[in-house]
Amino acid sequence: MQKSLHLRLPKHLKNMNTSETIILGIESSCDETGIALFSDQRGALAHQLFSQIDLHRAYGGVVPELASRDHIKRLLPLYRQCMQDASLQPQEISAIAYTAGPGLIGALLTGASFALALAYGLDLPVISIHHLEGHLLAALMAEEKPRFPFIALLVSGGHTQLLRVDAIGHYHLLGTTLDDAAGEAFDKTAKLMGLPYPGGPELAHLAETGDAQRYDLPRPMLKHDNLDFSFSGLKTKIRLLLEQEGDDPQKRADLAASFQAAVNETLTVKSQRALDQEHCRDLIVAGGVGANRDLRQRLRQSCAQRGARVLFPPYELCTDNGLMIAFAGLQHMDRARRCLDIDVHPRWNLAEANA
Ligand code: KG4
Ligand code: ZN
Repeated sequence: MQKSLHLRLPKHLKNMNTSETIILGIESSCDETGIALFSDQRGALAHQLFSQIDLHRAYGGVVPELASRDHIKRLLPLYRQCMQDASLQPQEISAIAYTAGPGLIGALLTGASFALALAYGLDLPVISIHHLEGHLLAALMAEEKPRFPFIALLVSGGHTQLLRVDAIGHYHLLGTTLDDAAGEAFDKTAKLMGLPYPGGPELAHLAETGDAQRYDLPRPMLKHDNLDFSFSGLKTKIRLLLEQEGDDPQKRADLAASFQAAVNETLTVKSQRALDQEHCRDLIVAGGVGANRDLRQRLRQSCAQRGARVLFPPYELCTDNGLMIAFAGLQHMDRARRCLDIDVHPRWNLAEANA
């Protein structure tokens, strides 16, 4: 499934002058190939995304080898499409930013190799980007920007973290999950319920018709006086309830709604604690689970009650995309290097990627 997005440019980015910096962004860390062009003066110039959902659906999850093979097929056509959409010549690109980790090693290698080959051919510098930093900085692309220092709730398929962001490149980890990530918990629970891959949005959709009060599920680690999370126990609880309750469709919807409420309430309460503890007024939410409407509503409500502000990237930039990588590259132009070393890190702590 290929998508090209039409994003409104922030007003201040519309006037172009001659010393424009244009970054080509390449994302290939998991099951989405994203290529985009971002200009320091005109904002998003082009944004192409190919989602491998249909490819992996038959297996109920991402098959890493298939993901890598598919990225290889998509990278060049998507790049050409972006250049055409933006009416750009290759010489007009200033630097190439690519996701260097964390992610699937084979998938990362396809994007990194493509980036380095193109950079070599065009004599351009490259910038390696931490995938989570890409998600985190996506919030800065919106017109309403957070003020430093702010709290970031990163909720993706592989990570659940609360961070204090003092400046771009200065991230302090406040809490993390001890087992499953929030997105992973959504995906695994959806699979237990027999929902198709990718489970998170499917479960959220089913939850819309369910009663979130019906099952009294635990709010994991809420009583612990820290900012860590643990979601794997919830999944076990759901498995037991599914065995008990059988195949009743309404009960399944109620179970989905109760599960979603348990995860989202936990994320909301801990995010508020982080704001209080760090004396911050702004919260940004990044990563795929940030597209969850119930989570957005809870965070908006609890922030409004405390006079705090919560900001989300546009829906289409919550999940993986090349634009967030191009934008992050622009913020790190100082790191741009003419270099042919392949730099990928399947496991990579964001704090280690600090400026
Ligand atoms: O950030 P992302 O696109 O990829 C990673 O870097 O992991 O996040 C994907 C995760 C998946 O676990 C997916 O199920 C979850 O985000 N997700 C959602 C929703 N949309 C995506 N989870 C709950 N509700 C949603 N609406
Ligand atoms: Zn991601």
